[in-house]
Amino acid sequence: MSSVRPIRLGVNVDHVATVRNARGGRHPDPVRAAKLAIAAGAAGITAHLREDRRHITDDDVRRLKAEISAPLNLEMAATAEMLAIALKTRPHASCIVPEKRSERTTEGGLDAAGQRDHIASIARELTGAGIRVSLFIAPEPRQIEAAAEIGAPVIEIHTGAWCEAVMQGDAGADAEFERIRAGARQAASLGLEVHAGHGLDYATSETISALPEIVELNIGHFLVGEAIFSGFEPVIRTMRAAMDKGRARARERAA
Ligand code: PXP
Repeated sequence: MSSVRPIRLGVNVDHVATVRNARGGRHPDPVRAAKLAIAAGAAGITAHLREDRRHITDDDVRRLKAEISAPLNLEMAATAEMLAIALKTRPHASCIVPEKRSERTTEGGLDAAGQRDHIASIARELTGAGIRVSLFIAPEPRQIEAAAEIGAPVIEIHTGAWCEAVMQGDAGADAEFERIRAGARQAASLGLEVHAGHGLDYATSETISALPEIVELNIGHFLVGEAIFSGFEPVIRTMRAAMDKGRARARERAA
């Protein structure tokens, strides 16, 4: 049997809430989207409760935890307010992300090395409540070392720079991918579980699924955007198929 582990798809429903909030009201409902995603093959659901509540709301988080059958991954800034919400909600996992009010999305990775003590104290409280902690970081050796020193069991590698370079046809795309590959290897060698996400589409998800150290992808914006044309469930199934195709390459290499 191949030693390459399966790769999970975590579906981020933030932008279903973005569309809902454009008009107020309840439609489209991110909890309904989460249930459809699970039925179509998502292994988990991710939601980011931002400080300004621009998409997911406190009530969405509460309903997601109460109503979905798959693990909930709550993305959160390292603040006292978000810590209190996580401790009350008790999601399966919390991914600590950097957050600036002015940014359109999570633009860079967390500075785990620079804010080691602060992140460590939040991570300790989450872990103490039985919540699996993940740190959203760039594939930089010192950030990966800091994550291991902090004692986080999981890192999520920020794939935004690579995906952007691929989209722009930038000559630096391959170098960005090599940084992700090296970061995934380094993290796995330190005993960390490795996830990845940000900006992924079908093609980049297939490519990155061939890295055997990466066991989970968290994907949102592309899926919600593509669902406008093809429907949410078919899009999740196509994404799952793209990931399976990439993973098959990892298995062939390992055989
Ligand atoms: N992972 C993390 C930690 C994120 O902050 C985001 C964006 O909210 C994603 C994954 C998903 O990124 P995208 O919406 O670009 O697929």
